Amino acid sequence: MTSVGIDAMEIWTGKLVLDLPNTFAPVKGEDPEKYTKGLGLHTSSFPDVYEDIVTMGANAAKQLMDRKGLTPADIGRIDVATESAFDNSKPVSTYIAGCLEQVYDGDFRHANKGERKFACIAGTQSLDDAYNWIKAGRNRGRAALVIATDTALYERGDPGEATQGAGAVAMLIDEDPDLVELSTEQGYGSMDETDFLKPNQQFPSVDGKRSMQVYLARMREALEDYESVAGRTHPDLFEYIPFHTPFPGMVRKAALLGFRHMTRDTDIEDDLEAEIGRQPREEDFETWDDYEEAIRGYMDELKTTEQYREWYGRVIEPTLDISSRVGNWYTGSVHIARLSALIAAADEGKDMTGKQLLVGSYGSGAQAEIHAETVQETWRDEIEAVDVDDQLAARTEISFDDYELIHDVHNHEKEIEVEEFTQPEAEFVFTGWGRMNERR
Ligand code: CAA
Repeated sequence: MTSVGIDAMEIWTGKLVLDLPNTFAPVKGEDPEKYTKGLGLHTSSFPDVYEDIVTMGANAAKQLMDRKGLTPADIGRIDVATESAFDNSKPVSTYIAGCLEQVYDGDFRHANKGERKFACIAGTQSLDDAYNWIKAGRNRGRAALVIATDTALYERGDPGEATQGAGAVAMLIDEDPDLVELSTEQGYGSMDETDFLKPNQQFPSVDGKRSMQVYLARMREALEDYESVAGRTHPDLFEYIPFHTPFPGMVRKAALLGFRHMTRDTDIEDDLEAEIGRQPREEDFETWDDYEEAIRGYMDELKTTEQYREWYGRVIEPTLDISSRVGNWYTGSVHIARLSALIAAADEGKDMTGKQLLVGSYGSGAQAEIHAETVQETWRDEIEAVDVDDQLAARTEISFDDYELIHDVHNHEKEIEVEEFTQPEAEFVFTGWGRMNERR
């Protein structure tokens, strides 16, 4: 059966950068280490005045199409995942297609376009849609373009303000992919939750602490569901585990939970027994609360063990690099975690061919999905072609006052005119509501 997966990917970061420990924290009267050590964030990306989810998505997609030598005729489907949509009718993919049609011969007249919404997990759901479309044989030999694009902004003064970010990830989904093949097996954890929502409002209403608990609960359920179809997982099976990363500190918690789950009844639990005892078993406790407290105690000890720390440093830490420099990209976030890991592998000269990734996606509201990916022989060429470091280094640093201005510019409820901080360089730019975006 044909293999289907991610053939190539590109990113487009918002062109402004805010230093969190040195610029943001002091004005907020906070300890810089809350950012660097607690949340695991150093800088975050913001869009310049002329950028938005359409221009960032279109610019990422153009880089991808140019690098892979594609024209619109090669694309049968454009799916955009976003939780920053500004139009309740026309999907953002039509706006992006309109941009791309300005620069390529031909058009996307015969491509199916849509917009996926389920908070941050929508990027992975769009991948799944593209995968299913190709597997069903409906693609007529064409590939799908999946674009995850967001401006993750919170109301000023909201605790979420610490975890903002903006950027887009474009992925080409195709047969015989050059980067990773997606597994057929998937696991889900999904419940109606009100941890993070935007009912007809621009900025989210978010219960931050609750959202973290919901993330962990749904992720655990998704892992159990994945194991019910793919078999037991074990930490040694996966070279990297990219998780949805709203901020790296969240992934520290998810990783510990995952390691505890995966090592239950394994050689690793046996090895750790003398040091920290065996994992608490539910049947040994009278109440669920007692069991949970015992699990928390076990995990506090587990995270100090050499086995856990070595695994975390090798399998999880490399997934966090881009996120720690750009903040939350919502729908794109788990996809930059995968990219971070593969860049680290390329930098270390690792042979990744045939190696497995376990990908943990999450969207508030809430749903988690776990699936596996197999790295393809041509992965290194694909990864070395993505210019992440150059793009991030080219961002223009903003002061706290600039940050407040740019936050207001991207607040659709306000109308303010602010000078551009940077000059566009042959890219799509936003030219006003209801008008076609231009290339400048
Ligand atoms: N030195 C070291 N660490 C410090 C520190 C210091 N001086 N000060 C604080 N910290 C640590 C804290 O102990 C805490 O770590 P733990 O959780 O491990 O205890 C961490 O830094 C954050 O500090 P606070 O909890 O005090 O931070 P906060 O109250 O400002 O809120 C937050 C943090 C809840 C994540 C908030 O930023 C928020 O609401 N973010 C948006 C919601 C979010 O991202 N939720 C994640 C799950 S939902 C999801 O994933 C979907 C999505 O993308 C939004």
